[in-house]
Amino acid sequence: MKIGIIGAGNIGGNLTRRLTALGHEVSVANSRGPHTLTELAEETGATPVTVEEAARGAAVVVVAIPLKAVPDLPSGLFDEAAEGVAVIDTGNYYPKQRDGRIAAIEDGLTESRWTEQQIGHPVIKAFNGTYAQDILDKPRPKGDPERIALPVAGDDEAAKKVVRDLIDELGFDTVDAGGIDESWRQQPDTPVYGLRGGVEAVTKALAEASPERPEALRA
Ligand SMILES: NC(=O)c1ccc[n+]([C@@H]2O[C@H](COP(=O)([O-])OP(=O)(O)OC[C@H]3O[C@@H](n4cnc5c(N)ncnc54)[C@H](OP(=O)(O)O)[C@@H]3O)[C@@H](O)[C@H]2O)c1
Repeated sequence: MKIGIIGAGNIGGNLTRRLTALGHEVSVANSRGPHTLTELAEETGATPVTVEEAARGAAVVVVAIPLKAVPDLPSGLFDEAAEGVAVIDTGNYYPKQRDGRIAAIEDGLTESRWTEQQIGHPVIKAFNGTYAQDILDKPRPKGDPERIALPVAGDDEAAKKVVRDLIDELGFDTVDAGGIDESWRQQPDTPVYGLRGGVEAVTKALAEASPERPEALRA
């Protein structure tokens, strides 16, 4: 599958490593330009590209950049993506530590709904509560009792299936966490955030989440 990855840090870098290893055709972009990605490209076989090129022809695009940088993404980013492209949002809102105050999120909009509005495209929320290192260290075959599960939220059922199948290929189970309006259940500080558990534990944690944003994550 043709996959574009925007962001080559902890999450974007490790997804580049695993997805190329599985044989996918990966393009990867960061803020400084393709010439700064030669090391990752040599290591993985991914193609370093500009952000503008990252989604071209892609069936899946991963947005793995700090939330505060999302409004800087170019408009029309997905115009030349494959029809029905699934856009994965790995982002989290950390107002005090990193992102600054985003009023719409403080007023109750889910983080991924805000991201959708910025990029002008629906997203599938996945990997946001997964330790980047676990993408390399924790894959397990289907049926392995140690296999961990990741929550996946989104409104586009076809795109959600594409993402869930890809996560399965990466070595993880998934749990359908509902639509983007429900995706507060997997935001930072919820029971499922950072949880290394199987399908049952993840399902229970999603059910136990509270929509209340803790003070430490407000600005
Ligand atoms: N770290 C984790 O374990 C983890 C786990 C789950 C989710 N997340 C979430 O995933 C997101 C990314 O986290 P991270 O830890 O991977 O970040 P990171 O290591 O700081 O990497 C950020 C990447 O985004 C790129 N970037 C920044 N602004 C950009 C722009 N305007 N256009 C294109 N690329 C841009 C950076 O490129 P340059 O280096 O060229 O600036 C860098 O490659 C965050 O929202 C984070 O909360 C992180």
